[in-house]
Amino acid sequence: MASKLNPFRIAHISRAIAPAKRSTPIRAFSTTQWRRSDNLNVHRDSADNNPSIPFKFNAQNEQLIKEIVARYPSQYKKAAVMPLLDLGQRQHGFTSISVMNEVARILEMPPMRVYEVATFYTMYNRTPVGRYHVQCCTTTPCMLRDSDAVMKAISDHLDIQPGQTTKDGLFTFSEVECLGACVNAPMVQINDDYYEDLTYDTTISLLKALQHAAEATGAGGGAAGMAGEAGKGAITGEDRNVKSGSEINEQGRSYTAQGVKVPTPGPLSGRNTCENSKGLTNLTGEPWGNEKLRTDGAL
Ligand code: FES
Repeated sequence: MASKLNPFRIAHISRAIAPAKRSTPIRAFSTTQWRRSDNLNVHRDSADNNPSIPFKFNAQNEQLIKEIVARYPSQYKKAAVMPLLDLGQRQHGFTSISVMNEVARILEMPPMRVYEVATFYTMYNRTPVGRYHVQCCTTTPCMLRDSDAVMKAISDHLDIQPGQTTKDGLFTFSEVECLGACVNAPMVQINDDYYEDLTYDTTISLLKALQHAAEATGAGGGAAGMAGEAGKGAITGEDRNVKSGSEINEQGRSYTAQGVKVPTPGPLSGRNTCENSKGLTNLTGEPWGNEKLRTDGAL
């Protein structure tokens, strides 16, 4: 039996290892550059991010934590891990290892469970970011409406590439996947605000306005800029969102932040929200059947 099988096996193996004869070259599925990176899932101690740097929530956030944790049964208080990490990020400027450890201590969780959450969601910035974190969406709907121009405008104006922070610590530039505002594509998220319907020119104007606002208020870089200049005018924690304490002027499509005009978040094309830019194109006449349009002018 063996003598009958062996020749077959040998022939089979030799066929498998023989160089394939192909008339056409093999084409790779992807032509983009392969960037190996473990940034998203690995922590490495650095001068501004290591477990020996103390972190404690401030009194205001301690109060918020009590309210958040009270929403869950006491045996499930680890369910509060995401809002607590978010609070820590807002206070500290980024989700450092010390922030994660403090959240683990408060919620009585193994630190590894907290690391798992923080490394899964890219919204947790685990390295310092600038005063303005500019996240440009390049997923299909934004790409079809020329997010390339928006990316180019950011790179050209700030002289940085995705993943980098400006030298003054004012801007960090990230390329991100869909942020759920596709109907107003292309768009960027800057800190907590969405700016939509962008073009190359409106993106540059927006960045200039933010630079002007930062200069006029003396705001330095964010968490990324603090190491250099010991937080001179740095925005951290409670005042990290530029809208805090500002008066919104909807008519002017801008609002005043600490006396400086900043473009109002939303579409920068003249649209109010996501209405059809060509105006009303359907449901313009009386419906058929016994349905009637309202006559009080409400719709
Ligand atoms: S594709 Fe850009 S917001 Fe959805």
